[in-house]
Formats: sequence, structure tokens, C-alpha cells
Amino acid sequence: MDWGAIDRYAKSLIKEAGHRIRVSFAGKIQIETKADANDLVTDIDREIEQFFISRIRRDFPGHRILGEEGFGDDVRSGEGVVWILDPIDGTMNFIHQRRNFAISLGIFADGVGMLGYIYDVMADDFYHAFRGEGAYRNDERLPVLEPVSVEKAIIGINASWVAPNRYIDHAAVGRLVSDCRGTRSYGSAAIELAHVAAGRLDAYLSMRLAPWDIAGGSVIIREVGAVSTNLRGEELDMISNDTFIAARQGLHQGILDQYIRLKQT
Ligand code: IPD
Ligand code: CA
Ligand code: CA
Repeated sequence: MDWGAIDRYAKSLIKEAGHRIRVSFAGKIQIETKADANDLVTDIDREIEQFFISRIRRDFPGHRILGEEGFGDDVRSGEGVVWILDPIDGTMNFIHQRRNFAISLGIFADGVGMLGYIYDVMADDFYHAFRGEGAYRNDERLPVLEPVSVEKAIIGINASWVAPNRYIDHAAVGRLVSDCRGTRSYGSAAIELAHVAAGRLDAYLSMRLAPWDIAGGSVIIREVGAVSTNLRGEELDMISNDTFIAARQGLHQGILDQYIRLKQT
């Protein structure tokens, strides 16, 4: 497998998709809801996913594609090469803010993350990584992250997990929010992972993410020495939805041990 060629191909595809998204703002965007009133999708999410899929199927017919909008393959195992794509991560931001959304792509071989990409389209910041070769923001190599204590950490977390909910003991999460230096929430898991990779966030956690939210980011953060697992500390399978934490080494285990009490759901 010529991973260098796949890397170059994926980068140029993502840049072209980013251009298509920017151009889409000139027209009227069609908005629909999915599972609930705040679960939004647009015609652009669908068009961009179809754009990726038609190109990948034409040029890599043996590869499979897992895409959020469902135009890809019915992927139930990690065998072979699987492209895991979120055409627009942060659709609510895309609609309401016209910024703070990203294209997220991870390319896995037999379940191992080989290539990872997060393209913050409006900032034109491209995060990318090749397994074992380091992570980059545009042409700048991202340094390996130093350890940090909870007291000095900025944690990416959505405020809804500090309110009573069916997934996690919110009082324990409240202690984390009080003990850490500060919290942030950006509304795009991919962008939050890019911030972890670049050392702007020290951890990011969520009660429910899908493989396409984290596939690209998990490859990238690994290259700077950060760790991602579910909130039980188990490896993610990139097939099913799960809880999620990504953090610098040490801080990752510290948060799991001291602040995470999952409920049985
Ligand atoms: C969502 C974003 C959001 C996260 C949600 C995701 P989407 O993805 O990543 O930050 O909290 O769980 O579903 O729907 O905008 O692609
Ligand atoms: Ca997403
Ligand atoms: Ca999406």
C-alpha cells in the first residue's frame, strides 16, 4: 500500500471539498432535522459526503467508506482500508455561525489509524498526521505535549454534562469543572481534538460521539503523545458510538479515576 500517495490524494480531496463548502455560502442552504429538532443536517453535508464517496470509489475501489450521512458502505468491522468521514463536523456552527466547523477524515487499515485529517475550513487550518511521522498544523510540526495537572488544565466539555443527565454523575463532572483552570466548548468534536493536538485544550470529553467525529482526530492526537479512549478507559473500536475522552497522558487517567462516574444505561 502506497500510504504516501493516499496521503497526498486525501489532502487534495479535502482542500477541494473545503473550497466547495466555502462556495456554498453564496447560495441558499437547505436545512433539515434528523433525530431531534437540534440535530441538523444540510444539503451541503450530503453533497460533500457524496463528493468524497464518488472520488474514493472511483480511485480506490477496494476501500470502504463510513460516512455520517449514510452514502458510504455498511461498515461493521475494521477489516481492510476504511475511510471514516464527517463531511461537516459542527453543522450547527456551519448554519448559525458560518465558521467553527471542520471536515474530519481518518483512514484506517485493519482497525489501525494510519492517516488523520481535520480541516477547519473557514480558518484554513489543516491538521494532519501520518502514523509514526508526527502531526502538523499546515506545515508546522506540532510538538509532543508535556504533562499537566488538572489544576492547570483547560478542559473541553459541553455544559450539558454538568446538568443532571442519564449518562454520567453530573456532580463529579461539576467537581472537575471547579478544579480545573477553565473550560471551553466549541461545538465541533473535530475542532476540539485539533485544539488538544495543538496544546490549546488539555482534554476533551463527551458522553456520546460517533466514529466519524473522532477518527481523524484520534490519529492526530496520538502523534503528539495524547491518549483517547472511551470513558471506561477502553480502546475505541471506530465502528460504534461511545463515550469519549482525549487528553494528555497522565491527565487522561487522572480525570477517569477522580471525576468520571458513569451510570448504567
Ligand atoms: C457534532 C459535533 C458536536 C458534538 C456532537 C456531534 P455534527 O457533530 O461534533 O460538537 O457534541 O455530538 O454530533 O452533527 O455537527 O457532525
Ligand atoms: Ca460530527
Ligand atoms: Ca457531520
